[in-house]
Amino acid sequence: MSFLLPTTSASLSGVLRRQSVRAFTSSARVAQAEPLQKPVLMKEFKVYRWNPDEPAKKPTLQSYKIDLNQTGPMILDALIKIKNEMDPTLTFRRSCREGICGSCAMNIDGQNTLACLCRIDRNPNKDSKIYPLPHMYIVKDLVPDLTLFYKQYKSIQPWLQNDNPPEKGTFLSLSPEDRKKLDGLYECILCACCSTSCPSYWWNQDEYLGPATLMQAYRWIADSRDTHGEERKERLQNEMSLYRCHTIFNCSRTCPKGLNPASAIANIKLELAAE
Ligand code: SF4
Ligand code: SF4
Ligand code: FES
Repeated sequence: MSFLLPTTSASLSGVLRRQSVRAFTSSARVAQAEPLQKPVLMKEFKVYRWNPDEPAKKPTLQSYKIDLNQTGPMILDALIKIKNEMDPTLTFRRSCREGICGSCAMNIDGQNTLACLCRIDRNPNKDSKIYPLPHMYIVKDLVPDLTLFYKQYKSIQPWLQNDNPPEKGTFLSLSPEDRKKLDGLYECILCACCSTSCPSYWWNQDEYLGPATLMQAYRWIADSRDTHGEERKERLQNEMSLYRCHTIFNCSRTCPKGLNPASAIANIKLELAAE
C-alpha cells in the first residue's frame, strides 16, 4: 500500500479543503433526506357548537386536539385546520385573515377579539375555549346574527351629507387639522367586538345603539365637510340611543384595533351638553 503525501503546505491545505467539502456535501445530503421534525405539541380547543337544523338539541362545547407544530400561529389557523382536516361541519366567518374585514370576531378565552389577530397560547396544558360573540342570536356555531347591528349602523346614516355640493370639477376640502379629528374613528372595521362586550348593549340592544354604531355616529358629527351634524345629534337626544352608556370602558378595552369608542361616546355627550 502506498500513500501520496502532500509535499508542500499549499497542497496540504488543498487536500483538507477537498475533504471538508466532501464532508459538507454528504451531511447536506443527510439533512435533505431527513428534514428536522418538530416535536408534537398537542393542545385542546373547545369550540361552541349549535346546529339550527337540530333546534331541540342544546349547544355543546366540542373538543378538538391539534398539534400546534402542524398549524399556523393564530386561532383562525387552528379553526381552519379543524374545518379542513377534522370536521367540515364547523361553521365560522372569515375572509381577509389580517384584521381588515372584521368577519372573524368571536369570544376567545373570555375576550371578544378577531380570531385572525389572536395568537394561540402555546401552553399545551391549557385548553382554549372559543365561543361566538356573546349575547347575540346565533345563526350556527360561531356565526352570530348581525342583522340588528347593521340596522343600527344604517340608522345613523353613515355617509357624507352636505347641502352645498361642490361645483363640477371641484371637491369638498378638509384641512389637515380637521382631517386629524377623524383619526381613531375612521379605522373601525365594524367587527362588533365592542358592542357585544358592553353590558348596556346586552340588556338594551333593541334601543341602545351600542359603542360601534355610536362611534360611527361621532365620526360623521366630527367631519367638517358634513352639514347635517345638528340632525345627527338630534337623533341621539333621547333616553335610550346614547345615554344607556355608563362609561364602563369594556368596549375600549376589547377593541382589537386599539380604538376608543367610549371616548367617542363621551365626546357626543359633551357636544350635546354644550347646546
Ligand atoms: S363605555 Fe359605554 S359603550 Fe363602552 S362598554 Fe361601557 S357602557 Fe358600553
Ligand atoms: S370600535 Fe373596535 S371593536 Fe368596535 S366595531 Fe370598531 S373595530 Fe370593532
Ligand atoms: S378574517 Fe378578516 S378580520 Fe379576521
